[in-house]
Amino acid sequence: MDVATAVSRRHSVRVFDSRPVALELVKKIICQAQRTPSWVDSQPWKVYLAAGKSLQRIRRAHLANSATAGGESDWPTWHRERWNIFPRTQMAHLTADREQYLSAAERTAWPEMQHQLYQAPVVLYLTIPKQSPNWSIFDLGAFGQTIMLLAQAEGLGSMVAYEFVRFPKELRNILTIPDDEAIAIGIGLGYEAKHHFNTYHSSRLPIDQVLKIND
Ligand SMILES: Cc1cc2nc3c(=O)[nH]c(=O)nc-3n(C[C@H](O)[C@H](O)[C@H](O)COP(=O)(O)O)c2cc1C
Repeated sequence: MDVATAVSRRHSVRVFDSRPVALELVKKIICQAQRTPSWVDSQPWKVYLAAGKSLQRIRRAHLANSATAGGESDWPTWHRERWNIFPRTQMAHLTADREQYLSAAERTAWPEMQHQLYQAPVVLYLTIPKQSPNWSIFDLGAFGQTIMLLAQAEGLGSMVAYEFVRFPKELRNILTIPDDEAIAIGIGLGYEAKHHFNTYHSSRLPIDQVLKIND
């Protein structure tokens, strides 16, 4: 699969089916993703792969926490009002558009699907040292996207989500993640289930709102 096809086919998969994913395949993807560029080749990322029993434990803890707590991610979330108007307008558009797409029953089922961690058979937890400049955050984002595109090329769907990292205390315990690493984001990998949630495709802004050419 060429890169442009992988980019256009990648989308958020919010329901995975029960087919298992070969860990050797995921290892190959991470290995290739290590070619991602980074500031002075610092390669600040680490990947903690959860599958099988460890993921079952994480899912149980996540479900229990979701019933009582909002979330305590290592990177704080921001109230929408704090965001600049440009991304905030697009967030409002997504929310309204998705509300229209979903039936009333699906809107009710949406949080449960999140709390179940999308039934992903494999989750990659990406960390960088807490002592990191913004440059490492850029590097980590590039690394994450490279993983998702390589996964797409291998026929795997992906889901990048804050939901995975809402409760870092349990993740640290179960996956033995040191305190000096920020658990930045999770990426679920697996085979896409045929489900109405998965056929929602979010829009993108017109190119002239994004690209400012000066020639
Ligand atoms: C850093 C980050 C965090 C995200 N967290 C969530 C999440 O917690 N729940 C969710 O449903 N989608 C989450 N998403 C997915 C975005 O909503 C999605 O990428 C966006 O709407 C574009 O849709 P697409 O991925 O299908 O192209 C997250 C995406 C990113 C990059």
